[in-house]
Amino acid sequence: MNILVLGSGGREHAITAKLKESKYAENIFVMPGNPGTSKIACNIDRDSFNNTEVLNFCVEKNIDLVIPGSEVYLENGITDVLLQKNIHVFGPTKEATQVESSKKFAKNLMEKYNIPTAKYEVFDNYDLALKYIKKVGTPIVIKYDGLAGGKGVVVAMNFDEAKAALFNMLVKKEFGNASVVIEEYLEGPEFSLMCFVDNGLVLPMPISQDHKRLLDGDFGPNTGGMGIYSPVPIIHPSVVEDSVVNIMQKTVDSLLREGINYTGFLYGGLMATCDGPKVIEFNARFGDPEAEVLLPKLESDLVEIILNLKAKIKTNIIWSSDYVLGVVLASKGYPNDYQNGYCIKGLDLIKNSYFHMGTKMKDNELITNGGRVLFVYGRGHSLLEAKAEAYSNINKIECINLLYRRDIGNKSLV
Ligand code: AMP
Ligand code: GLY
Repeated sequence: MNILVLGSGGREHAITAKLKESKYAENIFVMPGNPGTSKIACNIDRDSFNNTEVLNFCVEKNIDLVIPGSEVYLENGITDVLLQKNIHVFGPTKEATQVESSKKFAKNLMEKYNIPTAKYEVFDNYDLALKYIKKVGTPIVIKYDGLAGGKGVVVAMNFDEAKAALFNMLVKKEFGNASVVIEEYLEGPEFSLMCFVDNGLVLPMPISQDHKRLLDGDFGPNTGGMGIYSPVPIIHPSVVEDSVVNIMQKTVDSLLREGINYTGFLYGGLMATCDGPKVIEFNARFGDPEAEVLLPKLESDLVEIILNLKAKIKTNIIWSSDYVLGVVLASKGYPNDYQNGYCIKGLDLIKNSYFHMGTKMKDNELITNGGRVLFVYGRGHSLLEAKAEAYSNINKIECINLLYRRDIGNKSLV
Protein backbone atom coordinates (compact mmCIF):
# COMPACT_ATOMS: atom_id res chain seq x y z
CA MET A 1 0.00 0.00 0.00
CA ASN A 2 0.99 3.61 -0.50
CA ILE A 3 0.48 5.58 2.67
CA LEU A 4 0.60 9.32 3.31
CA VAL A 5 1.09 10.88 6.75
CA LEU A 6 0.29 14.59 7.13
CA GLY A 7 2.39 16.63 9.54
CA SER A 8 5.88 17.42 10.71
CA GLY A 9 6.07 16.76 14.44
CA GLY A 10 6.95 14.03 16.90
CA ARG A 11 3.56 12.35 16.57
CA GLU A 12 3.98 12.04 12.81
CA HIS A 13 7.54 10.74 13.26
CA ALA A 14 6.24 8.10 15.67
CA ILE A 15 3.38 7.13 13.33
CA THR A 16 5.78 6.87 10.39
CA ALA A 17 8.20 4.70 12.37
CA LYS A 18 5.36 2.31 13.22
CA LEU A 19 4.05 2.25 9.63
CA LYS A 20 7.55 1.31 8.55
CA GLU A 21 7.14 -1.98 10.46
CA SER A 22 3.85 -2.82 8.72
CA LYS A 23 3.73 -5.71 6.30
CA TYR A 24 1.20 -3.74 4.24
CA ALA A 25 3.30 -0.61 3.73
CA GLU A 26 5.17 -0.35 0.44
CA ASN A 27 5.74 3.39 0.06
CA ILE A 28 5.38 5.79 2.97
CA PHE A 29 5.22 9.51 2.27
CA VAL A 30 5.18 12.28 4.86
CA MET A 31 3.99 15.76 3.94
CA PRO A 32 5.97 17.80 4.82
CA GLY A 33 7.76 15.55 7.37
CA ASN A 34 10.87 16.39 9.38
CA PRO A 35 14.54 15.34 9.51
CA GLY A 36 13.50 12.20 11.44
CA THR A 37 10.89 11.02 8.93
CA SER A 38 13.27 11.77 6.04
CA LYS A 39 15.45 8.88 7.24
CA ILE A 40 12.67 6.27 7.19
CA ALA A 41 10.19 7.53 4.57
CA CYS A 42 9.89 9.98 1.72
CA ASN A 43 9.29 13.59 2.78
CA ILE A 44 7.16 15.63 0.41
CA ASP A 45 7.87 19.32 0.39
CA ARG A 46 4.38 20.59 -0.42
CA ASP A 47 1.81 22.57 1.52
CA SER A 48 0.05 19.91 3.58
CA PHE A 49 -2.56 22.46 4.71
CA ASN A 50 -3.75 22.95 1.15
CA ASN A 51 -6.42 20.30 0.55
CA THR A 52 -6.09 20.49 -3.22
CA GLU A 53 -2.33 19.89 -3.06
CA VAL A 54 -2.87 16.89 -0.81
CA LEU A 55 -5.61 15.50 -3.05
CA ASN A 56 -3.50 15.95 -6.20
CA PHE A 57 -0.59 14.20 -4.54
CA CYS A 58 -2.81 11.28 -3.49
CA VAL A 59 -4.07 10.86 -7.03
CA GLU A 60 -0.56 11.18 -8.52
CA LYS A 61 0.92 8.54 -6.21
CA ASN A 62 -2.09 6.24 -5.91
CA ILE A 63 -2.27 6.72 -2.16
CA ASP A 64 -4.34 4.02 -0.45
CA LEU A 65 -4.39 5.41 3.07
CA VAL A 66 -3.94 8.89 4.58
CA ILE A 67 -3.25 9.51 8.26
CA PRO A 68 -3.61 13.19 9.21
CA GLY A 69 -1.57 14.13 12.29
CA SER A 70 -2.85 17.42 13.61
CA GLU A 71 -6.43 18.56 14.22
CA VAL A 72 -5.84 21.48 11.86
CA TYR A 73 -6.05 19.12 8.84
CA LEU A 74 -9.28 17.65 10.15
CA GLU A 75 -10.81 21.02 10.92
CA ASN A 76 -9.79 22.04 7.39
CA GLY A 77 -11.93 19.20 6.04
CA ILE A 78 -9.15 17.11 4.49
CA THR A 79 -11.05 13.92 5.29
CA ASP A 80 -14.20 15.13 3.53
CA VAL A 81 -12.19 16.12 0.44
CA LEU A 82 -10.38 12.78 0.19
CA LEU A 83 -13.42 10.66 0.96
CA GLN A 84 -15.19 12.19 -2.03
CA LYS A 85 -12.50 10.56 -4.15
CA ASN A 86 -12.80 7.31 -2.22
CA ILE A 87 -9.40 7.66 -0.60
CA HIS A 88 -9.26 5.94 2.78
CA VAL A 89 -8.50 8.41 5.58
CA PHE A 90 -7.97 7.40 9.17
CA GLY A 91 -9.30 10.63 10.62
CA PRO A 92 -12.74 12.09 11.29
CA THR A 93 -14.74 14.33 8.96
CA LYS A 94 -15.01 18.03 9.70
CA GLU A 95 -18.39 17.43 11.31
CA ALA A 96 -17.05 14.69 13.61
CA THR A 97 -13.96 16.76 14.41
CA GLN A 98 -16.24 19.10 16.33
CA VAL A 99 -15.69 16.87 19.38
CA GLU A 100 -12.40 18.76 19.54
CA SER A 101 -12.86 21.93 17.51
CA SER A 102 -16.01 23.09 19.31
CA LYS A 103 -16.15 22.75 23.07
CA LYS A 104 -19.81 23.74 22.78
CA PHE A 105 -20.54 20.81 20.43
CA ALA A 106 -18.67 18.38 22.70
CA LYS A 107 -20.38 19.66 25.84
CA ASN A 108 -23.85 19.55 24.28
CA LEU A 109 -23.27 15.99 23.09
CA MET A 110 -22.09 14.92 26.56
CA GLU A 111 -25.04 16.59 28.23
CA LYS A 112 -27.57 15.07 25.82
CA TYR A 113 -26.21 11.53 26.22
CA ASN A 114 -25.22 11.64 29.88
CA ILE A 115 -21.49 11.33 29.36
CA PRO A 116 -19.78 12.42 32.59
CA THR A 117 -18.10 15.84 32.39
CA ALA A 118 -17.83 19.13 34.32
CA LYS A 119 -20.91 21.39 34.51
CA TYR A 120 -20.66 24.34 32.18
CA GLU A 121 -22.18 27.51 30.67
CA VAL A 122 -21.38 29.16 27.34
CA PHE A 123 -20.85 32.94 26.98
CA ASP A 124 -19.94 35.35 24.23
CA ASN A 125 -20.57 38.50 26.24
CA TYR A 126 -17.83 39.68 28.59
CA ASP A 127 -20.10 41.42 31.13
CA LEU A 128 -22.46 38.47 31.43
CA ALA A 129 -19.54 36.05 31.77
CA LEU A 130 -18.02 38.21 34.50
CA LYS A 131 -21.33 38.41 36.33
CA TYR A 132 -21.61 34.61 36.19
CA ILE A 133 -18.14 34.16 37.67
CA LYS A 134 -18.94 36.62 40.46
CA LYS A 135 -21.97 34.48 41.24
CA VAL A 136 -20.36 31.00 41.15
CA GLY A 137 -16.90 31.94 42.49
CA THR A 138 -13.45 30.48 41.89
CA PRO A 139 -11.59 28.22 41.20
CA ILE A 140 -13.19 28.04 37.80
CA VAL A 141 -12.09 26.97 34.32
CA ILE A 142 -12.37 29.17 31.23
CA LYS A 143 -12.05 27.59 27.80
CA TYR A 144 -11.96 29.29 24.43
CA ASP A 145 -14.51 27.56 22.18
CA GLY A 146 -12.24 26.89 19.21
CA LEU A 147 -8.82 25.57 18.35
CA ALA A 148 -6.10 27.39 20.29
CA GLY A 149 -3.19 24.96 20.11
CA GLY A 150 -3.69 23.73 23.68
CA LYS A 151 -3.40 27.29 25.02
CA GLY A 152 -7.07 28.26 25.17
CA VAL A 153 -7.69 26.94 28.69
CA VAL A 154 -7.20 28.93 31.87
CA VAL A 155 -7.68 27.32 35.26
CA ALA A 156 -8.39 30.46 37.27
CA MET A 157 -7.72 30.03 40.97
CA ASN A 158 -8.97 33.53 41.84
CA PHE A 159 -11.27 36.21 40.48
CA ASP A 160 -8.51 38.37 38.98
CA GLU A 161 -7.17 35.47 36.92
CA ALA A 162 -10.66 34.64 35.72
CA LYS A 163 -11.33 38.26 34.77
CA ALA A 164 -8.04 38.53 32.86
CA ALA A 165 -8.78 35.33 30.93
CA LEU A 166 -12.27 36.49 29.98
CA PHE A 167 -10.89 39.85 28.89
CA ASN A 168 -8.24 38.20 26.68
CA MET A 169 -10.69 35.81 25.07
CA LEU A 170 -13.86 37.90 24.76
CA VAL A 171 -12.61 41.49 24.47
CA LYS A 172 -9.08 41.24 23.04
CA LYS A 173 -10.15 38.12 21.08
CA GLU A 174 -6.68 36.65 21.49
CA PHE A 175 -7.57 33.38 19.69
CA GLY A 176 -10.37 34.62 17.45
CA ASN A 177 -14.02 35.41 17.54
CA ALA A 178 -15.54 32.40 19.30
CA SER A 179 -17.34 32.24 22.65
CA VAL A 180 -16.03 30.76 25.90
CA VAL A 181 -17.15 27.79 27.92
CA ILE A 182 -16.98 28.37 31.66
CA GLU A 183 -16.62 25.11 33.48
CA GLU A 184 -16.83 23.74 36.99
CA TYR A 185 -13.37 23.07 38.46
CA LEU A 186 -12.73 19.35 38.89
CA GLU A 187 -10.06 17.62 40.92
CA GLY A 188 -8.26 14.30 40.58
CA PRO A 189 -5.43 12.70 38.60
CA GLU A 190 -5.64 13.17 34.84
CA PHE A 191 -4.97 10.55 32.20
CA SER A 192 -5.23 10.22 28.45
CA LEU A 193 -7.25 7.38 26.98
CA MET A 194 -6.77 7.02 23.23
CA CYS A 195 -8.83 4.69 21.04
CA PHE A 196 -8.80 3.48 17.45
CA VAL A 197 -12.34 4.04 16.16
CA ASP A 198 -14.36 3.19 13.06
CA ASN A 199 -17.87 1.91 12.30
CA GLY A 200 -18.87 2.15 15.96
CA LEU A 201 -15.97 -0.09 17.03
CA VAL A 202 -13.75 1.31 19.78
CA LEU A 203 -10.35 -0.26 20.47
CA PRO A 204 -8.69 1.29 23.52
CA MET A 205 -4.95 1.78 23.90
CA PRO A 206 -3.12 1.66 27.23
CA ILE A 207 -3.57 4.87 29.20
CA SER A 208 -0.86 7.50 29.52
CA GLN A 209 -0.34 10.63 31.58
CA ASP A 210 0.70 13.89 29.99
CA HIS A 211 2.31 16.82 31.83
CA LYS A 212 0.72 19.93 30.37
CA ARG A 213 2.34 22.62 32.51
CA LEU A 214 5.69 24.02 31.48
CA LEU A 215 7.53 23.69 34.79
CA ASP A 216 8.32 21.04 37.40
CA GLY A 217 5.63 20.52 40.01
CA ASP A 218 2.92 21.50 37.49
CA PHE A 219 3.72 25.20 37.59
CA GLY A 220 3.84 27.69 34.74
CA PRO A 221 1.60 28.00 31.68
CA ASN A 222 -0.23 25.18 29.90
CA THR A 223 1.64 23.79 26.89
CA GLY A 224 1.00 21.16 24.23
CA GLY A 225 2.56 18.63 26.64
CA MET A 226 6.02 18.47 28.25
CA GLY A 227 6.38 14.78 29.02
CA ILE A 228 4.42 11.58 29.31
CA TYR A 229 4.50 7.98 30.43
CA SER A 230 2.50 4.81 29.96
CA PRO A 231 1.04 2.80 31.63
CA VAL A 232 -0.14 4.86 34.63
CA PRO A 233 -0.08 2.82 37.85
CA ILE A 234 -1.98 5.41 39.93
CA ILE A 235 -5.13 4.97 37.83
CA HIS A 236 -6.97 1.80 38.83
CA PRO A 237 -7.85 -0.59 35.96
CA SER A 238 -11.53 -0.41 36.97
CA VAL A 239 -11.48 3.35 36.28
CA VAL A 240 -10.07 2.65 32.83
CA GLU A 241 -12.73 -0.01 32.11
CA ASP A 242 -15.43 2.39 33.27
CA SER A 243 -13.99 5.10 30.98
CA VAL A 244 -13.85 2.83 27.94
CA VAL A 245 -17.51 1.79 28.30
CA ASN A 246 -19.18 4.86 29.77
CA ILE A 247 -17.13 7.56 28.06
CA MET A 248 -15.35 6.45 24.88
CA GLN A 249 -17.79 3.83 23.55
CA LYS A 250 -20.75 5.91 24.68
CA THR A 251 -19.41 8.96 22.86
CA VAL A 252 -18.91 7.03 19.63
CA ASP A 253 -22.42 5.53 19.98
CA SER A 254 -23.88 8.98 20.68
CA LEU A 255 -22.23 10.40 17.57
CA LEU A 256 -23.68 7.52 15.55
CA ARG A 257 -27.12 8.34 16.92
CA GLU A 258 -26.55 11.89 15.70
CA GLY A 259 -25.76 10.42 12.27
CA ILE A 260 -21.98 10.81 12.56
CA ASN A 261 -19.69 7.82 11.98
CA TYR A 262 -16.46 8.69 13.78
CA THR A 263 -13.33 7.32 12.12
CA GLY A 264 -9.80 7.81 13.43
CA PHE A 265 -8.04 8.24 16.71
CA LEU A 266 -10.30 9.47 19.50
CA TYR A 267 -8.50 11.00 22.44
CA GLY A 268 -10.18 11.30 25.82
CA GLY A 269 -8.47 13.71 28.19
CA LEU A 270 -10.01 12.36 31.39
CA MET A 271 -9.90 13.04 35.11
CA ALA A 272 -10.37 10.37 37.80
CA THR A 273 -12.55 12.37 40.20
CA CYS A 274 -14.08 11.03 43.39
CA ASP A 275 -17.35 10.74 41.44
CA GLY A 276 -15.71 8.55 38.79
CA PRO A 277 -13.93 9.41 35.54
CA LYS A 278 -15.02 12.61 33.78
CA VAL A 279 -14.17 14.17 30.44
CA ILE A 280 -11.92 17.22 30.48
CA GLU A 281 -11.69 17.33 26.70
CA PHE A 282 -11.82 15.23 23.56
CA ASN A 283 -9.33 15.44 20.75
CA ALA A 284 -10.04 14.13 17.27
CA ARG A 285 -6.53 12.84 16.65
CA PHE A 286 -3.65 10.99 18.21
CA GLY A 287 -2.18 12.92 21.15
CA ASP A 288 1.21 14.50 20.89
CA PRO A 289 3.25 13.38 22.88
CA GLU A 290 0.90 10.44 23.64
CA ALA A 291 1.69 8.88 20.24
CA GLU A 292 5.39 8.97 21.03
CA VAL A 293 5.06 6.68 24.08
CA LEU A 294 2.18 4.50 22.91
CA LEU A 295 3.42 3.58 19.46
CA PRO A 296 6.75 2.19 20.74
CA LYS A 297 4.60 -0.15 22.88
CA LEU A 298 2.42 -1.29 19.97
CA GLU A 299 3.37 -4.78 18.79
CA SER A 300 0.49 -5.33 16.34
CA ASP A 301 0.51 -4.04 12.78
CA LEU A 302 -0.88 -0.47 12.79
CA VAL A 303 -2.14 -0.69 9.21
CA GLU A 304 -3.88 -3.99 9.91
CA ILE A 305 -5.75 -2.45 12.85
CA ILE A 306 -6.98 0.38 10.60
CA LEU A 307 -7.91 -1.90 7.69
CA ASN A 308 -9.71 -4.32 9.96
CA LEU A 309 -11.74 -1.52 11.53
CA LYS A 310 -12.82 -0.40 8.09
CA ALA A 311 -13.95 -3.98 7.43
CA LYS A 312 -15.78 -3.95 10.82
CA ILE A 313 -13.33 -6.42 12.37
CA LYS A 314 -11.92 -5.91 15.87
CA THR A 315 -8.20 -6.66 16.06
CA ASN A 316 -6.90 -8.18 19.26
CA ILE A 317 -4.18 -5.59 19.70
CA ILE A 318 -0.91 -6.66 21.35
CA TRP A 319 0.91 -4.08 23.49
CA SER A 320 4.27 -4.48 25.17
CA SER A 321 3.99 -4.47 28.96
CA ASP A 322 7.06 -2.21 29.16
CA TYR A 323 6.87 1.20 30.74
CA VAL A 324 7.78 3.97 28.33
CA LEU A 325 8.51 7.47 29.65
CA GLY A 326 9.34 10.41 27.43
CA VAL A 327 10.39 14.00 27.98
CA VAL A 328 9.87 16.96 25.66
CA LEU A 329 12.87 19.19 25.10
CA ALA A 330 11.45 22.63 24.33
CA SER A 331 12.94 25.90 23.14
CA LYS A 332 13.57 28.42 25.92
CA GLY A 333 10.62 30.81 25.88
CA TYR A 334 8.03 28.22 24.76
CA PRO A 335 4.97 28.34 24.89
CA ASN A 336 5.44 32.07 24.24
CA ASP A 337 8.17 33.63 22.08
CA TYR A 338 11.25 31.59 21.36
CA GLN A 339 14.06 31.55 18.81
CA ASN A 340 14.91 28.85 16.31
CA GLY A 341 18.21 27.91 14.75
CA TYR A 342 20.25 26.44 17.62
CA CYS A 343 22.50 23.52 16.79
CA ILE A 344 21.60 20.07 18.24
CA LYS A 345 24.24 17.38 18.75
CA GLY A 346 24.41 13.91 20.29
CA LEU A 347 21.33 12.23 18.81
CA ASP A 348 23.52 9.54 17.27
CA LEU A 349 24.32 8.41 20.84
CA ILE A 350 20.68 7.55 21.65
CA LYS A 351 19.62 5.38 18.74
CA ASN A 352 15.86 4.86 18.28
CA SER A 353 14.84 6.49 21.55
CA TYR A 354 13.74 9.86 20.27
CA PHE A 355 11.41 11.57 17.83
CA HIS A 356 11.89 14.90 16.10
CA MET A 357 9.20 17.42 17.06
CA GLY A 358 10.48 20.76 15.76
CA THR A 359 13.83 20.43 14.02
CA LYS A 360 15.32 21.18 10.63
CA MET A 361 18.52 20.55 8.69
CA LYS A 362 20.57 23.57 7.73
CA ASP A 363 24.01 23.35 6.11
CA ASN A 364 24.18 19.68 7.11
CA GLU A 365 23.51 20.49 10.74
CA LEU A 366 20.43 19.71 12.80
CA ILE A 367 18.93 22.86 14.30
CA THR A 368 15.96 23.74 16.50
CA ASN A 369 12.86 24.76 14.57
CA GLY A 370 9.84 24.92 16.86
CA GLY A 371 8.55 25.30 20.41
CA ARG A 372 8.71 21.62 21.19
CA VAL A 373 11.95 20.40 19.61
CA LEU A 374 12.66 16.79 20.57
CA PHE A 375 10.96 13.93 22.34
CA VAL A 376 13.39 11.65 24.13
CA TYR A 377 12.24 8.47 25.82
CA GLY A 378 13.35 5.48 27.82
CA ARG A 379 11.72 2.11 28.40
CA GLY A 380 11.98 -0.59 31.05
CA HIS A 381 10.18 -3.12 33.20
CA SER A 382 9.38 -0.41 35.73
CA LEU A 383 8.60 3.29 35.54
CA LEU A 384 11.80 4.02 37.44
CA GLU A 385 13.86 2.13 34.87
CA ALA A 386 12.14 3.93 31.99
CA LYS A 387 12.66 7.27 33.67
CA ALA A 388 16.34 6.65 34.38
CA GLU A 389 16.91 5.69 30.75
CA ALA A 390 15.02 8.70 29.40
CA TYR A 391 17.04 11.19 31.45
CA SER A 392 20.30 9.43 30.77
CA ASN A 393 19.49 9.74 27.04
CA ILE A 394 18.75 13.44 27.47
CA ASN A 395 22.14 13.96 29.10
CA LYS A 396 23.79 12.91 25.84
CA ILE A 397 22.13 15.72 23.88
CA GLU A 398 23.86 19.03 23.47
CA CYS A 399 21.95 22.19 22.65
CA ILE A 400 22.16 25.50 24.49
CA ASN A 401 18.57 26.61 23.96
CA LEU A 402 16.54 23.67 25.28
CA LEU A 403 14.72 23.23 28.55
CA TYR A 404 12.75 20.32 29.94
CA ARG A 405 10.94 19.09 33.03
CA ARG A 406 12.85 16.84 35.41
CA ASP A 407 9.86 15.37 37.22
CA ILE A 408 8.09 13.39 34.48
CA GLY A 409 6.45 10.31 36.01
CA ASN A 410 6.89 11.46 39.61
CA LYS A 411 3.15 11.34 40.36
CA SER A 412 3.23 7.58 39.90
CA LEU A 413 6.56 7.16 41.68
CA VAL A 414 5.70 8.50 45.15
P1 AMP B 1 -7.85 21.03 28.11
O1 AMP B 1 -7.09 21.74 27.03
O2 AMP B 1 -9.31 21.19 28.05
O3 AMP B 1 -7.39 19.61 28.26
O4 AMP B 1 -7.35 21.70 29.46
C1 AMP B 1 -6.00 21.85 29.80
C2 AMP B 1 -5.79 21.50 31.24
O5 AMP B 1 -6.56 22.37 32.06
C3 AMP B 1 -6.25 20.10 31.60
O6 AMP B 1 -5.30 19.14 31.34
C4 AMP B 1 -6.52 20.25 33.08
O7 AMP B 1 -5.33 20.14 33.83
C5 AMP B 1 -7.03 21.65 33.20
N1 AMP B 1 -8.49 21.62 33.20
C6 AMP B 1 -9.31 21.69 32.13
N2 AMP B 1 -10.61 21.60 32.49
C7 AMP B 1 -10.62 21.48 33.84
C8 AMP B 1 -11.65 21.37 34.83
N3 AMP B 1 -12.95 21.39 34.50
N4 AMP B 1 -11.27 21.27 36.12
C9 AMP B 1 -9.97 21.29 36.48
N5 AMP B 1 -8.95 21.39 35.60
C10 AMP B 1 -9.26 21.49 34.30
N1 GLY C 1 -0.96 15.77 24.67
C1 GLY C 1 -1.91 16.75 24.47
C2 GLY C 1 -2.46 16.82 23.12
O1 GLY C 1 -2.10 16.09 22.21
O2 GLY C 1 -3.33 17.64 22.93
